[in-house]
Amino acid sequence: MSRRLSGGTVVLASHNAKKIRELEGLLAGSGISLRSARDLGLAEPAETAADFRGNATIKALAAAEATGLPSLADDSGLSVAGLDGAPGVHSSRWAGPEQDYPATMARIRDALATRFGSFAAADKRAAFLTVVCLAWPDGEVVCFEGRVDGTLLETPRGSGGFGYDPMFVPDGESRSMAELTPAEKDRLSHRGQAMRAFAEACLPERR
Ligand code: IMP
Repeated sequence: MSRRLSGGTVVLASHNAKKIRELEGLLAGSGISLRSARDLGLAEPAETAADFRGNATIKALAAAEATGLPSLADDSGLSVAGLDGAPGVHSSRWAGPEQDYPATMARIRDALATRFGSFAAADKRAAFLTVVCLAWPDGEVVCFEGRVDGTLLETPRGSGGFGYDPMFVPDGESRSMAELTPAEKDRLSHRGQAMRAFAEACLPERR
């Protein structure tokens, strides 16, 4: 059984404003107050691990050590089957310092077209993956996983969400992730799943 929070403040160990907004939405009404690493001016640790769990652990522990508060981090990315799982753990790095997602989505489209002869012929299966970790100031860490499978579009659509959302259509949907409302995305997203597992295990029990 996981150790539970008893209210108080939790640090969201992220500097990505749109990710912070999603995490805040997913924790709304939970009875805990949130501060982001961005607002606290915490340094961003180097994400040197080879997988999502390792990098989420690095980010959560760095914030917990810096603040003395329980800290929650998400490490996530898009895994494209036809590109052997890339960009995966390098999803943010692929977008470069400018975080230029239109260009990065075009790069994925072109890489698939080159490998398969055309985009139409490509294996367009993909998944968003995440690991969310809660680190306590004494160094204990607990992690939760989420995954949503889908298909890539040749032409990205929609203006909601962030990152690679406009080119990803979740299974069972005809709209891209960027065409869903925030509540619809939360219901089926990798982050929504992992945060519900976190909430069940770690948030104060409701009476
Ligand atoms: P991280 O901040 O190191 O975890 O980088 C995650 C990167 O993966 C983000 O910058 C996005 O490029 C991508 N990503 C993660 N979650 C999502 C999502 O929900 N939608 C679209 N892109 C995402």
